[in-house]
Amino acid sequence: MDSLRTLRDFLRWGASRFAAAGVFFGHGTTGAADEAAVLIAHALHLDLPLAPEFMDAALTTSERAAVLALFERRVTQRLPAPYLTGEAWFAGLRFAVDPRVLIPRSPIAELIDRGFAPWFDDAPPARILDIGTGSGCIAIACALAFPDAQVDAVDISADALAVAQTNVTRYGLQDRMRLLRSDLYAALRGERYDLIVSNPPYVPQAEYAQLPVEYRHEPAGALLSPDEGLEHPLRILRGAAAHLTERGVLVLEVGATWPALAERLPDWPLLWLELERGGEGVALIGRDELQQALR
Ligand SMILES: C[S@@+](CC[C@H](N)C(=O)[O-])C[C@H]1O[C@@H](n2cnc3c(N)ncnc32)[C@H](O)[C@@H]1O
Repeated sequence: MDSLRTLRDFLRWGASRFAAAGVFFGHGTTGAADEAAVLIAHALHLDLPLAPEFMDAALTTSERAAVLALFERRVTQRLPAPYLTGEAWFAGLRFAVDPRVLIPRSPIAELIDRGFAPWFDDAPPARILDIGTGSGCIAIACALAFPDAQVDAVDISADALAVAQTNVTRYGLQDRMRLLRSDLYAALRGERYDLIVSNPPYVPQAEYAQLPVEYRHEPAGALLSPDEGLEHPLRILRGAAAHLTERGVLVLEVGATWPALAERLPDWPLLWLELERGGEGVALIGRDELQQALR
């Protein structure tokens, strides 16, 4: 280890160490070198991407120790990098994260970046609801995309809401956002929204058991849903009409569970959205269609 001197040395060594250890990269980085860069940047208080002019700079003794300690935790504990750095990026925004919340990665970011075009091209949504807000990433990104909207964000986990509160405060959105502890719609009697968006738990038990160890550090209640991953999505779909305005739409992510949902609800006109940046299983459905499907 004494032979490691420069930033480039540590980047290369970390990448080799991660690859050799079979570390899994599913939480915001593209591979071993990228993962090493994220941890080095955090330990050395540098921006990403790492500046080429620093590559041949030697690390101080304390910097070496800090980088090696992060690498070690990544390999031995299999902690995803965002839990080691305390931050994750979503829709171009930085969020505080820790093991109380899922690490943001929803493909819904792409829809937010597009302002959910073309659905709100005529008039932006005045009220938005995010169900299962976790770190608050989707709700906050929506609030910033629609600067006049009021945004409610619910979660059943008080721990998650504490993290979301940190992020709401960080973005100065406390006047336009409400964080509510709620089992889906339970605390929202009589409330109606132009846009309901949700990335709920939708991983079936059998699939959860097969996930790489990194995912076990995320709250199980953020991933697992009973009934083959469909319980939460079905409850959200069945309850949405009562909480949407006339022009309102529900955007619901179910990832790889989408064929099971489509099979369970063959008569529901779910529109599976095309995602240019990857991901799958994001459905959109309007209030009228929901009402008809419920009949
Ligand atoms: C897949 S995570 C999504 C977190 C965040 N929206 C994101 O995209 O990163 C699902 C979230 O739903 C919450 N949740 C689970 N069951 C719930 C329920 N019955 N009612 C409300 N929220 C629930 C979990 O605590 C978790 O924060």
